[in-house]
Amino acid sequence: MGEKWVLMKTAQTPTNIAVIKYWGKRDETLILPVNDSISVTLDPAHLCTTTTVAVSPAFQQDRMWLNGKEISLSGGRYQNCLREIRKRAREVEDKERGIKIEKKDWEKLHLHIASYNNFPTAAGLASSAAGFACLVFALAKLMNVSEDESQLSAIARQGSGSACRSLFGGFVKWIMGKEDDGSDSLAVQLVDEKHWEDLFIIIAVVSSRQKETSSTSGMRESVETSLLLQHRAKEVVPKRTIQMEEAIQNRDFASFAKLACADSNQFHAVCLDTLPPIFYMNDTSHRQVLVYRCWIISYVEKWNRSEGTPQVAYTFDAGPNAVLIARDRKAAAQLIQRLLFYFPPKSDTDLDSYLLGDKTILKDAG
Ligand code: DP6
Repeated sequence: MGEKWVLMKTAQTPTNIAVIKYWGKRDETLILPVNDSISVTLDPAHLCTTTTVAVSPAFQQDRMWLNGKEISLSGGRYQNCLREIRKRAREVEDKERGIKIEKKDWEKLHLHIASYNNFPTAAGLASSAAGFACLVFALAKLMNVSEDESQLSAIARQGSGSACRSLFGGFVKWIMGKEDDGSDSLAVQLVDEKHWEDLFIIIAVVSSRQKETSSTSGMRESVETSLLLQHRAKEVVPKRTIQMEEAIQNRDFASFAKLACADSNQFHAVCLDTLPPIFYMNDTSHRQVLVYRCWIISYVEKWNRSEGTPQVAYTFDAGPNAVLIARDRKAAAQLIQRLLFYFPPKSDTDLDSYLLGDKTILKDAG
């Protein structure tokens, strides 16, 4: 190998929104969950990470930049992903440039990684899902790894649990698995992005001035203290997952909306059942956020009842933003009109903006 060359690969990966939530780990190091979860992958045009990975004999150490700022790779989660990918690295040859990297060379070669989010990190949108999925996917391309997306998802999972679901477009299930080594805890695609094209996803982005409890520590506390979490993981989610899969397969919006809203509400009930309680619904300290969340829930519930058939589903993650899934373009337009009327962006409501995914679900991570 000469000393002057650099070999690069770039990948783009969207984030995902869970409609059956992952909350709680049975193994903190391997990131093994206490229940299955199901998510929808968003349009990369709106919420995605782009990561370029480079290798060169000139690099002295592994380094990473996130949105242009260098970050440390010393954390266990990064190290686990890098180690697992390096283990699977294979020979790479670029004949035109006369570069050949043998399998054994990957152990001593260092990497430079540059990652960008196309959405404001400060907006409180979970970026770790897209981030780790993209990192693992880009590294797998660079190192000519032969594992498929599901096998790669089991590596991305070790960066951040929800990341494993971003390796696919469409609706994705993270199977919790049974094995202690985590080998069967991976993501599978339930349906691709074309299956349910009518759906619209609207994310109401709320600026958060106060730091929230991170998902990692929040779910640890829930596992340690919440009886509701145990009931949810054993009794509720296994049945709900089957029903949700059916609803998605049949494009049955009424069942989909009922299950997604119920699961979001139960996730937040688990947070309240945690000691000390976690108030993701209103912990940004803004009264307006609480008002708008309550408004969204009661407005959607009322609207769905008055129409006789659900028009919109809501789901809230471990942050201040509302994710709204409309059954079609008409329902999305009506919803946005109402949101803009009651909560104009950049006014006293403190809503930053609305992001609209014109197709729910998008292409494959590659
Ligand atoms: C509420 O995947 O961010 O968004 O595995 O500790 O990195 P770690 O947690 P993370 O948790 C996501 C929790 C959630 C629900 C979900 O996405 O399923």
